[in-house]
Amino acid sequence: MIHTRHHIATQPNAARRTLTRWIAAGIAVAALMGHDAANAQTPIVIQFSHVVTPDTAKGKAALRFKELAESRTSGKVRVEIYPNSQLYKDREELDALRLGAVQMIAPSLSKLSGLGGGDFEVFDLPFLFKDRSAFRAAVDGPVGASLLKKLEPHGVKGLAYWDNGFKVFSANRPLQSVADFKALKVRVQASRVLVTQMKALGAQVSVSPLANVYEALRSGQLDGQENTPTNIETQRLHDVQRHLTVSNHGYLAYAVLVNKPFWDKLPPDIRIALEGALQDASVFENSIASSENSKALDRIKSSGKLTVHTATPQELNQWRAALLPVYKEAQGWISVETLRSLNALDGPPL
Ligand code: LMR
Repeated sequence: MIHTRHHIATQPNAARRTLTRWIAAGIAVAALMGHDAANAQTPIVIQFSHVVTPDTAKGKAALRFKELAESRTSGKVRVEIYPNSQLYKDREELDALRLGAVQMIAPSLSKLSGLGGGDFEVFDLPFLFKDRSAFRAAVDGPVGASLLKKLEPHGVKGLAYWDNGFKVFSANRPLQSVADFKALKVRVQASRVLVTQMKALGAQVSVSPLANVYEALRSGQLDGQENTPTNIETQRLHDVQRHLTVSNHGYLAYAVLVNKPFWDKLPPDIRIALEGALQDASVFENSIASSENSKALDRIKSSGKLTVHTATPQELNQWRAALLPVYKEAQGWISVETLRSLNALDGPPL
């Protein structure tokens, strides 16, 4: 059970978001009416909602998918991208996908419990992956495929894994030793593993949508958060934090998901073209994610807005020891089979 405060900040763009939803709903209805009238010229509309900006790796790859999908289907498909929580925030977009209000999303693996994907939280275990290739080997192997299958009874089909990268911590105080986390109010994504991780460090945890984090940090409702450098920079979180510790303590990545009934009903030639477009967009995403994060970190450092500390091996050893119990606790909700397949039964693989 996660004890958290949801929606901790006010919704700054509620009116704009409501308007956008109406427009999107109108487009969907118009598309359906077009099909009912058997108008062959009416494109199939894919609404793709996500919660980060268009200039992140995920945002760029969504745009690449749109270009490829539209050109390879000669305009028979139109992809509408709704970035930066414009249409739906974290939890809402999962519900919207399941209900068919949007056809495509790319949420982080951390958020998939809501779609029957509790085992995806295995990827949140601290210090599980020593590098990006270790993560890719896991998702590109049998465990990655079998986890995506678990979403299907929930009306959702998983088509690809997209990288973001290693997370760092930011806060309004320096974070070096474990003691520095004591009573720090920290935002995490909706994952029991991440909640357990923060509790193990002695912090106070708050689960909230990404769209609310800037305001919560600015107003002092939150003291800190963990994310990748690209997300920190593009959400302007470094404007409202004083310190950043490069800890690379966990990995953030995504699953690209479609509404299964929608996908299954597509004409086969269209589906094949879209699968090809997604495959190419995925290669693109996974090839830029890491360098986008290095560049973002460099820009954050040179902005001079906050003090950047790179955690020392001694500091990281202390964090690792404090976080080891998270692996034991996670056995309460992640299957032994999944933990074993990633060598994560008792702690990070050596
Ligand atoms: C977050 O909520 O911090 C991330 O999952 C956002 C994202 O999509 O990268």
